[in-house]
Amino acid sequence: MSAPMSPPVLETRAVTRDYETGGFPRPRKTIRALKGVDLQVRRGRTLAVVGESGCGKSTLARIITLIDAPSSGEVLIDGQPVDLRAGLSREMRRKVRIVFQNPYGSLNPRQKIGDVLEEPLLLSTSLSAPERREKALAMLARVGLKPEHANRYPHMFSGGQRQRVAIARALMVNPDLLVLDEPVSALDLSVQAQILNLLQDLQEEFGLTYVFISHDLSVVRHVADEVMVMRLGEVVEYRSRDEIFAAPEHPYTRTLFAATPKIDLERIRARLAAKASRARGA
Ligand SMILES: Nc1ncnc2c1ncn2[C@@H]1O[C@H](COP(=O)(O)OP(=O)(O)OP(=O)(O)O)[C@@H](O)[C@H]1O
Ligand SMILES: [Mg+2]
Repeated sequence: MSAPMSPPVLETRAVTRDYETGGFPRPRKTIRALKGVDLQVRRGRTLAVVGESGCGKSTLARIITLIDAPSSGEVLIDGQPVDLRAGLSREMRRKVRIVFQNPYGSLNPRQKIGDVLEEPLLLSTSLSAPERREKALAMLARVGLKPEHANRYPHMFSGGQRQRVAIARALMVNPDLLVLDEPVSALDLSVQAQILNLLQDLQEEFGLTYVFISHDLSVVRHVADEVMVMRLGEVVEYRSRDEIFAAPEHPYTRTLFAATPKIDLERIRARLAAKASRARGA
């Protein structure tokens, strides 16, 4: 007899989201940004969500990180249905975290990085100030930053470093699921590869589950276990990475794949790895 399988970390059932737009003097209009999305992500896996601008990726991200409620349908975390109107427990808030494309927008320019990292602990734990600082410094080191960075402000960092800060902040409360909305899209290629490597290491170390949103198929190919292709709020194809890259089935997926320039992230990663091993050897 096989052991009962634990529920997926994240599941959505027939999730829709409508936006009301217009209004006086223009007529009111409803946009259905999500038209019934079903997905499941198991622990330690990465689901990549791809699709053109406006297809509903960020709308989905806000719903699965429990920032926004669906118009209809259900979101389940660890098999438990979430009801935003009833309020979220601390435990539920801890489980799911988001990393945005542009962390600058979500970092307070007057807050030092050490305080940025400690804030989630202040809100959801009863750790003392020295304990919080210790955890913040350990996490800074874990994402490749230095202790002295704790006393600096967001504008004193490069884009890649700021993304490391955003990842560190997301991990402070030991989440199970990270939703990454275009986390490397604003970065140079070599920095993209470094951040992708970091995310991969963190996933292994902490057993994290990722929903990775990207319009860049060369990135998706490297991070995904499963790939979900969206178009105009609908899921048009949802299969394992190997299957979908070997033989995209839906005509839209084929068009999307054909339109993507082949930027060779693999080569950049290999170069970085070689550089790192040379540095270790030296
Ligand atoms: N707050 C809002 N009010 C009204 N319409 C919205 C709102 N947010 C998103 N939309 C609309 O919903 C649709 C999906 O938007 P969404 O931001 O989810 O797309 P996306 O796939 O993330 O696009 P991008 O790749 O450009 O980030 C679009 O038509 C958008 O104009
Ligand atoms: Mg978006």
